[in-house]
Amino acid sequence: MLTDGDKKLVTQIWEKATQSLPEDFGGEALERLFIVYPQTKTYFPHFDLQPGSAQVKAHGKKVAGALAEAANHIDDIASALSKLSDLHAQKLRVDPANFKLLAHCFLVVMAIHHPSLLTPEVHASLDKFMCVVSTELTAKYR
Ligand code: HEM
Repeated sequence: MLTDGDKKLVTQIWEKATQSLPEDFGGEALERLFIVYPQTKTYFPHFDLQPGSAQVKAHGKKVAGALAEAANHIDDIASALSKLSDLHAQKLRVDPANFKLLAHCFLVVMAIHHPSLLTPEVHASLDKFMCVVSTELTAKYR
């Protein structure tokens, strides 16, 4: 559950951080995911997964866009991610454990680019936000 305080922090930080994060921070998080947790590559057999891959960058943009959409609809993340939730549940069936790994990689990318922004409080709120997003994307599995 995101408290009002979490929501405020996530909205503020998302706006601030994404203004100055490199454009392909989503791709950076995915690149990290595939190197640190290579088992996640099994969901992308159709992708070129070499570092610097244009396909990974393009996918990273989509993932970052979905996170921005969730942050912009912080009071109704379920509706904002409803279609994506259908996709992940009905078609992709990604093991929910992988969402934690991706969330971790996002936080690491954030920490690298914004070490001063990522206070323990912001870290905690962003972590909760990523948990809510992951829960929504895996909510329709059964
Ligand atoms: C597709 C978001 C987690 C595997 C997508 C798309 C988005 C997205 C926006 C594109 C949908 C479209 O093209 O219409 C997210 C978000 C995540 C997340 C916000 C969590 C924060 C994961 C994880 C995995 C995964 C953890 C697996 C390790 C996939 C795959 C596709 C996909 C295989 C289809 C790629 C393609 O063929 O183009 N996701 N995703 N997702 N996602 Fe996720």
